[in-house]
Amino acid sequence: MKQINHCDKLKELKFKHPLKREQQMPVTLDDTKRLAIAQKLADMKAIQNLIISNEQKLIEACTDQEIRKRLQDFIQDDQKNIGVLDTVMVQYGVKGEPKETTQMMIEQVQKLMEGSELTMYEKVAQHELLKHKQTMAGLLIHKCAQVVGADVMAAIGPLNAVNFDNRAHQEQLKGILEILGTRELTGQEPDQSLWGRVQDAVAALSGVVGSAVTRSDDEMDIRALIRMDHTKVNTLFMEVQGTNDPQKLQEYFGQIYKDLSVHAAAEEQVVYPAIRSYYQDTQELYSEQAEMKQMLEHIKSLNPSDIDNFKANIEQLMRAVQSHVQQEENEMFPKLRDNFSHEQQKQMATEFKSVKSQLQDQMAASKK
Ligand SMILES: [Fe+2]
Ligand SMILES: [Fe+2]
Repeated sequence: MKQINHCDKLKELKFKHPLKREQQMPVTLDDTKRLAIAQKLADMKAIQNLIISNEQKLIEACTDQEIRKRLQDFIQDDQKNIGVLDTVMVQYGVKGEPKETTQMMIEQVQKLMEGSELTMYEKVAQHELLKHKQTMAGLLIHKCAQVVGADVMAAIGPLNAVNFDNRAHQEQLKGILEILGTRELTGQEPDQSLWGRVQDAVAALSGVVGSAVTRSDDEMDIRALIRMDHTKVNTLFMEVQGTNDPQKLQEYFGQIYKDLSVHAAAEEQVVYPAIRSYYQDTQELYSEQAEMKQMLEHIKSLNPSDIDNFKANIEQLMRAVQSHVQQEENEMFPKLRDNFSHEQQKQMATEFKSVKSQLQDQMAASKK
């Protein structure tokens, strides 16, 4: 008897261990590697805010007009990129918090930037390191997305624009460092050809990664945003079809569950009430989403190791989603296009994004 109890204890421990989760039965919606990417994205956003605050401080302290102008341009890009990061985080669909060590590092850098221990050159050198860190974080997320799945690649696409700006800023910061360093050490002006070289370096960069620059966030209207969600969930369904690994099935379904729940709720809060008086079948859309929610809950209670049954249920959900999506894109989209101005459609997109973001926060908080 004693031995059996011991085994049970072991089993219990295994079930609590996140890496052994695939062995337990009801579906767990969280996946360790997806959470790790969410944390990295949260780190990026926290550092992006630090970058902006550093640049504001550097502008205040700098008297060189050319350098000030470049820093002003950086701030414009960096603020736009906060919006891009927000879009990516919401599209990604898993929310994370910055690492504690990232927050500590931010406080230390803030102190150094406010203090008088460092020369201007040293402060800009510190800032250039941050941009480097930020570029690497962006590239790393890109690499991880390639490994984790096509749906993650689809979600993080706009990150390319952020990575490009950070790379371009880094090149310019190198030029700024040469000027400040030469002045501080020798009291003299550096070689005049310096800005020309910096421009060449930025141009070379555009040639290399220019095509990776995606359209900017602020152009997106509600139809573009909804379509992005539809494409992403379709990618997830394709991923489900392509695997027979229970752990992968659980991971993809976890993402489908989160994405569809949040997408449907945001449509019901922001889009359906607005479209109701122009589209007579709006009630149908509500009913279909209610059915999909039931299907999601049912699949959540199934065991992914019973592969055929699990996949058959997801396929049934997929068919329901595909027909619902067709109705939205073929019938509801024209009503949106014809009855709302471009400005209104962009405003709706902003609301849609913020409702999704709040719901994702609630989802993440309910698990703590
Ligand atoms: Fe919908
Ligand atoms: Fe939809």
